[in-house]
Amino acid sequence: MMNAAITICYLLAGIGFIVGLRMLGKTQSARKGNWVSALGMLAAVLGAFLAIVRDSGAEFSFGNVVWIVVGVVLGGVIGAVTARMVKMTAMPEMVALFNGFGGIASLLVAAATVVWLGGNAGGHFSAATLFLAMLIGGITFTGSLVAFGKLAEKLPSKPILYSGQNVVNALVMLLVVVAGVCYTIWPDQWWIFLVVSLISLYFGVAVVIPIGGADMPVVISLLNSYSGLAACAAGFAVNNTLLIITGGLVGASGIILTRIMCKAMNRSLANVLFSGFGSGSGGSGAAAAGGSQGTAKSMTPEDAYYILEAAQSVVIVPGYGMAVAQAQHAVRELAEQLEANGCEVKFAIHPVAGRMPGHMNVLLAEANVPYEQLVEMDDINPVMATMDVAIVLGANDVVNPAAREEESSPIYGMPVINVDEARTVFVLKRSMRSGFAGIENPLFFKDNTSMIFGDAKATIEAMVAEFKE
Ligand code: TAP
Repeated sequence: MMNAAITICYLLAGIGFIVGLRMLGKTQSARKGNWVSALGMLAAVLGAFLAIVRDSGAEFSFGNVVWIVVGVVLGGVIGAVTARMVKMTAMPEMVALFNGFGGIASLLVAAATVVWLGGNAGGHFSAATLFLAMLIGGITFTGSLVAFGKLAEKLPSKPILYSGQNVVNALVMLLVVVAGVCYTIWPDQWWIFLVVSLISLYFGVAVVIPIGGADMPVVISLLNSYSGLAACAAGFAVNNTLLIITGGLVGASGIILTRIMCKAMNRSLANVLFSGFGSGSGGSGAAAAGGSQGTAKSMTPEDAYYILEAAQSVVIVPGYGMAVAQAQHAVRELAEQLEANGCEVKFAIHPVAGRMPGHMNVLLAEANVPYEQLVEMDDINPVMATMDVAIVLGANDVVNPAAREEESSPIYGMPVINVDEARTVFVLKRSMRSGFAGIENPLFFKDNTSMIFGDAKATIEAMVAEFKE
């Protein structure tokens, strides 16, 4: 009876995770997908709880139940409160922390199992999986903490490099692999486990500090994948099928997302991990983009209104600045005004606009922008030259023509939205400062571009006010 209940819980959890993940792939079903996955997790916790009761047998004590309930309630409350409080712009930091907690959980499960087994990991397979869970978990934990610190600007966000860094890291990795083989052969040598768990914590820091700038979201996705792999290894170690399935899902989806992001930036994963993007040698700032490129024209929202009022087609390209300004509701209103004026409006979404995958889609969905108005980069670029106006709403790197035109640019080759091909371009931002990649944007100096300086929300609201008048 108990076994059947546990199997059903695990089955429901597995189905919940797979169906939920699938639903998360589409904006329309993403919210429900989140709920389905959460219910799957509830079934998983219940199944694990029942399994503990079953396995405790005669040793079952009420004290153990209290520990579990306290853990579940505390974790649930902290998770719910932080998820409610976190700002949309701080979401990547939160994901980084979640990954880190996943990693340390796997490390602790592995360590507790070794202690519980009296220092002897048992068979060779068990030793190998415990070693992997500990190693990947440790790297994920400290790597994620560094990624969090960089994103939250508590640590320098630029890559921290020193000469011979890749060689030192490669040697440490070699040492760890040799230690892993030794531990698998001699599972009773618990000190190897202890020493390597400390090295894994160091290694997480060592592999993330040389990465910075625009590459952090990719690293977070990769660490997400690692946290899944660590959980998967822990699942093998403690013989828990559900943990293996869940870890496998997280590991695979994280690596797929990482690949999608690298492709959108036209970079290889090796280049992201080892090149120290934006550290200076590749040339950050104005030097990399060819120095100052003349004088940019600026315009007021009131002047821009006359051009918008006459436009037949407008494409709006949102970026990180829209998230900072929380301009999504205002821009939906502007789109409505333009449409009421007989203009065709599209929102062009770059795959890495903002600071996390789907960032712009989430914000525009929150503001009830119809899904049909959203177009992808590959669909808008071929028709960009036919658009009367392109409004760049707090975007910068994702519309930088240097990616097409300047071979010396660190972002050369990255696919961008070619707003400069539209008849008129309005760039809405607060200053001439560069974007996340830290490089100058020649778009600002093009003949058909006008800068409209100010907070993106205030600028859009001023345009809406003109339409209403
Ligand atoms: P960014 O290049 O970071 O530019 C955002 C711009 O918004 C800034 O130049 C800033 O200029 C402006 N801004 C900030 N607050 C504003 C406000 N309140 N009102 C108006 N403007 C404001 O953003 P992007 O174009 O979205 O590009 C995203 C970057 O992140 C890319 O480099 C991309 O490679 C990187 N990245 C993203 C991801 C994902 S998954 N999204 C993954 C990997 C890398 P001012 O300071 O002058 O206002």
